[in-house]
Amino acid sequence: MKCKICGESANIKLDYCGLKLCKPHFIEYIQKRVKRTIKRYQMVRKEDTIAVALSGGKDSQALLHILKQIYVDSNKLIGIHIDLGINDYSQESAKFVRILCDELEVPVHVINIKEEYNFTIDNAKKSKKIRRPICGICGLVKRYVLNVFARKYKADVLATGHVMDDEVSVLLSNLVNGNFEQLIRGGPFLPSDDVSMVARIKPLYEISELETTLYSHFNNIPFIEITCPYDVKATVSSYKQVTNKLEEMQPGSRYLLLRNYIKIYKKALKDYNTEIQQELCYCKVCGGPTIRDICAFCSLRKKMEGNE
Ligand code: AMP
Ligand code: FES
Ligand code: ZN
Ligand code: ZN
Repeated sequence: MKCKICGESANIKLDYCGLKLCKPHFIEYIQKRVKRTIKRYQMVRKEDTIAVALSGGKDSQALLHILKQIYVDSNKLIGIHIDLGINDYSQESAKFVRILCDELEVPVHVINIKEEYNFTIDNAKKSKKIRRPICGICGLVKRYVLNVFARKYKADVLATGHVMDDEVSVLLSNLVNGNFEQLIRGGPFLPSDDVSMVARIKPLYEISELETTLYSHFNNIPFIEITCPYDVKATVSSYKQVTNKLEEMQPGSRYLLLRNYIKIYKKALKDYNTEIQQELCYCKVCGGPTIRDICAFCSLRKKMEGNE
């Protein structure tokens, strides 16, 4: 098997396009594709500071590495990691984030939610006052805290490491469950509706998990290999199984589904949805954006008071 670009021995064959590539040309190919995604969805302006949300996992670590190559001497990059207080898992995650940021010379801020908000995800898991699954609570905390600190550090956009596999399975789940709002707001670029919100981008939207895994290995990128102890993701993973099977039977179908969702369906849904716009107001406690009197994060904090 020979690399299509240089004719040297190839390390990988991409099933969805038949391309055979050696290590250096695979690395170059992934960086080019991410650059294309950023351009295609107009995610970043020349003067923007990009905050990269780093979990310590392979996807967001690979994302930082790719962005560092793309913006080698232009846009400013900063890393943000949230220490969620999940026992040893959080300590390990922070360790990998710091190692990579040191290596790439990217400034990093580690936000400890125990210090900032006086509770941890471990506390929330044990609390009898909280009935929602812990992953949902954790997602809420991450969204809120990332937005607050991205603004604090003057970032214009917040980049997360969501990859194509996650995005396709979430899309299928939203379709099956009729989550109209999420279908309208989903996609690779969520512009800021208000000064209180930082725009969110997903530069790995068109890159698969297999590709970020290979990219990380080929570049010796350090990342945490253990998964979160609370990671069940039971329903999403059944959607993931289905979409992975579809990809196996019809290579390239996941990419096509996402492209058509953005190009055709999302646009049509937006045009159709004229009256369901909920008015944005500001939380009475923290001043952040919400559709209620008190935002979901402040309600959670209230429940966690005295719940050490
Ligand atoms: P997940 O929701 O765990 O699948 O993570 C999706 C994305 O959210 C990751 O690729 C990161 O960009 C971001 N993220 C997840 N956990 C953290 C964390 N503890 N700190 C900062 N960003 C995170
Ligand atoms: Fe949030 Fe596991 S990382 S519950
Ligand atoms: Zn080559
Ligand atoms: Zn609030």
